Amino acid sequence: MTVTAPRVHIDRCICRNRRFADLLPLAREAGWDLGSLGQATGCGEQCGLCRPYLRAMLAKGTTVFDRLLPSDSE
Ligand code: FES
Repeated sequence: MTVTAPRVHIDRCICRNRRFADLLPLAREAGWDLGSLGQATGCGEQCGLCRPYLRAMLAKGTTVFDRLLPSDSE
């Protein structure tokens, strides 16, 4: 029996309904780090589940994720 992981498609901060693809150019233009991005947009400041993805977006430029990243609390 083959077990496959569920497919995921993570492309935004759900709480603020802001797509990473829209946030990345703003962050690059303004030179935001994760904290600055949160202050400016509210993303990552509510439930916080998007924080690992925002961090990866800022570091690598990835705006769509097809696997889960460890949460900040793990
Ligand atoms: S999903 Fe971004 S703060 Fe909740």
